[in-house]
Amino acid sequence: MINPWKVEGKIDYEKLIEQFGTEKLNYNFSNPHILIRRRFFFSSRDLSKAIENGFFIYTGRGPSGKMHIGHLPPFLLAKWFQDTYNVNVYIMISDDEKYVYSKDVNWSEIQKYADDNIKDILSLGFDPDKTFIFKSSEYIANVYQATLSIARKINFSTAKAVFGFKGDTNIGLIFYTALQIVPTFFEKKYPLIPAGIDQDPYWRIQRDIAESFGYFKASAIHGKFFPSLLGLDKKMSSSQPDSVIWLDENKKSLEKKINKAFSGGQPTVDLHRRLGGNPDIDVAYLLLYYLFEEDDSKIEKIREDYRSGKLLTGELKQYTIEKIWQFLEKHQQNKENLDLEKYYNGRLSKEMKEKYLKL
Ligand code: TRP
Repeated sequence: MINPWKVEGKIDYEKLIEQFGTEKLNYNFSNPHILIRRRFFFSSRDLSKAIENGFFIYTGRGPSGKMHIGHLPPFLLAKWFQDTYNVNVYIMISDDEKYVYSKDVNWSEIQKYADDNIKDILSLGFDPDKTFIFKSSEYIANVYQATLSIARKINFSTAKAVFGFKGDTNIGLIFYTALQIVPTFFEKKYPLIPAGIDQDPYWRIQRDIAESFGYFKASAIHGKFFPSLLGLDKKMSSSQPDSVIWLDENKKSLEKKINKAFSGGQPTVDLHRRLGGNPDIDVAYLLLYYLFEEDDSKIEKIREDYRSGKLLTGELKQYTIEKIWQFLEKHQQNKENLDLEKYYNGRLSKEMKEKYLKL
């Protein structure tokens, strides 16, 4: 099962491409990001059209809690596109969505997470003049007319079919459909959206109505889900703290979590030396493979040595801890030293605050 609010069970990504009617990601980038090279991003819509005809980047985050490394891929890719193609990046923090999604969370808590998430995201190093990050609840005045124009074109049976809304779905969540589509009309270019594939239903609806407004159909690049530390059949999920690596994790707790993480190694050193391990189900290996070991020859050697039994699980995990810590330590320093004003006063942010989008 997979929709924007719930992802459950083992996921066959090849089958999703078929079911969602997307394309296998096969664009020939000259210097692709590791998440593209290693096929973490595996599917797309109209990617070559967007790149060849001009695009901007749109992505977002529902601020329901602290951020963990499973939340990073769309933002890392957004930054890579910004660096590589010199494009604007728009980041929506959908505090409205999280508020209507669950009646258990209160507004001030969501705001606290939203502010903290914004810092985490900006700490990845976006260009202050080409990045606009906003909470939906704050930017709504600039886009309310546009939201209504979008809402007028989406009927309930379409939304129901695409999202699986039911009789007990609250109407806030139903209206939010229009909100998440709004930023795809921030520029008259292709909106290229790096996001988890669970967000695709929004883009399907957007693609049906975009041209009627004189705008471009959404182009998307779809990511997989980060494996849970507990094993491949689950995704990293904030509701299970043992399954995630938080961005504010300290080294001790990182060590503890990786050492407990699901492993493809044998139960004893003896057996491991004889039979070798299975990297394909080993969470430490997969973390290195998808994100933390960029060097192709190194990851290849780790794979072979693990398979043959030359590399032990404990050694693989130690290496993984060091690699992830390198990233986390730097991230935490960046966040500590972040100058938010630089972003709020950047060229694009100023421009967007002056703008009233009408459709
Ligand atoms: N719905 C997303 C979530 O729950 C947040 C979001 C808003 C988003 N706009 C987006 C995600 C655009 C990807 C692209 O996390």
